[in-house]
Amino acid sequence: RPGQNHHPAGPSTPPSSPPTQSLSVQRQLYERDFPLYKQPVEVGHFSLDSERRFFNDARQLRYYVEPEKSCPNFDLRDGYRGRFVKRDDRVKEKLDHILRWILANRSKLQLKDTAASSSPCALGVDIVTWRGHLTKLLTTPYETREGWLLAVTRMGGTLYISEVETEAARRDRENRTERHEEMMYWGYKFEQYTCADDAQSLPDPGGVVNTNEAFCTVVQTRLAEHRLLFSGEVDCRDKDPKAPSPPANYIEMKTSLEISTPKQRSNFHRFKLLKWWAQSFLPGVPRIVAGFRDHDGVVVSVETYHISKISQLIKNETNCWKPTVCMNFCCEFLSFVKSVVTEDNPRVVHLFSWDPHRDVTYSIHRDSQYSFLPDWYVKEMTS
Ligand code: A3P
Ligand code: MG
Ligand code: MG
Repeated sequence: RPGQNHHPAGPSTPPSSPPTQSLSVQRQLYERDFPLYKQPVEVGHFSLDSERRFFNDARQLRYYVEPEKSCPNFDLRDGYRGRFVKRDDRVKEKLDHILRWILANRSKLQLKDTAASSSPCALGVDIVTWRGHLTKLLTTPYETREGWLLAVTRMGGTLYISEVETEAARRDRENRTERHEEMMYWGYKFEQYTCADDAQSLPDPGGVVNTNEAFCTVVQTRLAEHRLLFSGEVDCRDKDPKAPSPPANYIEMKTSLEISTPKQRSNFHRFKLLKWWAQSFLPGVPRIVAGFRDHDGVVVSVETYHISKISQLIKNETNCWKPTVCMNFCCEFLSFVKSVVTEDNPRVVHLFSWDPHRDVTYSIHRDSQYSFLPDWYVKEMTS
């Protein structure tokens, strides 16, 4: 076939023909109707404690407490030296926590979709991954700086997608400046100023910020023909007991530099809101609470963004991103992966690779350093 390039709008590949070798990322190929994206349903959740241990419950879920003043003067630098425990980001957890959740909740999952499970180990979903990996796919058509590597394995008919750190990302991680290290703390500190451990109590800005702790939602949804199961960290929930059921009661917390010029506003709309929108739209989190800070890490204003209103907010920007391009590209990538990864084998990894201004390509690895499904999972799922 011409060019051997997976063409998004083209007819589906007949099962007998070899898969195409690459996928184009050009925006204009994905400017069509918004694909079907079913309302995400929370099928479960889990928590990671201060030592990163897994619990099949909501013990780490926090409650949003609206700041007293619109200009709260939160000092995000407070506690960086002395009351901060940082997660070791050299440790690569891959999909392990999600796989633990799947094993602990397998009966529930299979009950949900018995018609689709044809073999004993079939999960009834096409894709298992982290929300963050899908966020990267959604923003790919607009990304000009950072590439990605995604490892994919098919087992029991389900495709598992797990990120591999690129060489460039590893270099950046190992060479962060002291200023950048501190600024990465600020986002978590903002959460501490605004989140409480239960619906009755107040935030405790005098406590320790420990970035090992996390509450993760597990949602199921469908993007066109792709049945997805993914997990993502949730910062907090609405504390009103009458709030809607999850994920509609969840709130994403963000910090950003205060906006003082039209140029800064435009950049905020064109670059930051893309990432914010993609991250929360995927799991159906409806709101973002943003703390705008100055250069010294003092929050000078707090604003709420409704995910459903972001596309309106950005419409007047020239050269702006489009939600439909993000979703159509992600959908096409998943179709590409399905057509390429046909061997059902936990020891085989197809490594999909993308760099800015290039097509998506892949390589195949058998029993390599890239294999990521742990023996305890494979054993349990195939027994
Ligand atoms: P901000 O985004 O407010 O700066 P999240 O917003 O996804 O809940 O993440 C919480 C905080 O973790 C972020 O707060 C930021 O400080 C840090 N963080 C998240 N992703 C990061 C990344 N890719 N690189 C550096 N820091 C990151
Ligand atoms: Mg978070
Ligand atoms: Mg956040």
